Amino acid sequence: MSVSAAGYLRIASTDTAAWMVFGTEVLGLMDAQIEDTAGAQFLRMDDHPFRFMIESSDTDSLIATGLEYPSEAAWRAALDTLATAGHDIILGSAEEAQRRCVSAFATVQDPADNTLELYWGRNLDYVPLASPTGVSGFVTTYQQTGDMGFGHCVLPAPNIDAVTDFYTQLIGTGLTDTLYPPGMGGLKINFMHANNPRQHSVALFGGPHPLGVVHIMVEAQTLDDVGATLDRAKKAGCHFLATLGRHVNDNMCSAYILAPGGIAVEYGCDGILIDWENYVPTVSVEGDLWGHEYHFPSMDE
Ligand SMILES: [Fe+2]
Repeated sequence: MSVSAAGYLRIASTDTAAWMVFGTEVLGLMDAQIEDTAGAQFLRMDDHPFRFMIESSDTDSLIATGLEYPSEAAWRAALDTLATAGHDIILGSAEEAQRRCVSAFATVQDPADNTLELYWGRNLDYVPLASPTGVSGFVTTYQQTGDMGFGHCVLPAPNIDAVTDFYTQLIGTGLTDTLYPPGMGGLKINFMHANNPRQHSVALFGGPHPLGVVHIMVEAQTLDDVGATLDRAKKAGCHFLATLGRHVNDNMCSAYILAPGGIAVEYGCDGILIDWENYVPTVSVEGDLWGHEYHFPSMDE
């Protein structure tokens, strides 16, 4: 297992100003105040210079998921493995790396055409989080094990078995568990972890998604943080995709709200931490201990 964490996301938005208001005033993330020549805006949640890059676009979608490697050597080894397996790799320029606040990165498409940016050496500036809404903190590190990434994302993968092999054999994630959600006709979700105790950093959903991402997740430190955020989301008129609930696999107590443009954001707390040395992947036929009643926007039409 060579990937350290899912470090950042690039998000395309038709209304970056609205996304920033949502990110700061609802989610409680901090405007990173980074000047960008292309006009992107940045949200931070911890010591990292940013976790979400919000880029102006004529579509709303996930552009790329940034995956961190623990060293330049590990990063180069992963690129060699991908090239040997026949995947096209585009090395980022020094200027592009600087924009992402990383030492170096390369872009590759997974077999479902999700874009990954593989990088090493995040440039940390240790500006502490000052949440504009008073969120006590976001769970992104664990004691001495270091970075656990921003949270997780769930990527569409109609060809899920081939895509899972790509991640586990070439990218370097480990399979955590497989879920067959009830009432979804055998559709499968594979949850995968990086080399940190977070239960999953990237998951694969066995179907398509028009936004290029099924949801993204951020984990706050306390249930009070989650409750206050849901109050703010309700006040701001956000659509709730799923009510408060607790997942079986990662124990996350969370709700799902839609960002401007429609990307679902899971906002939770209580995620379990796992020692991978002593772990056996599981297969589940139930995703929730309680709650998480879904309400898709199309149900209103
Ligand atoms: Fe999730």
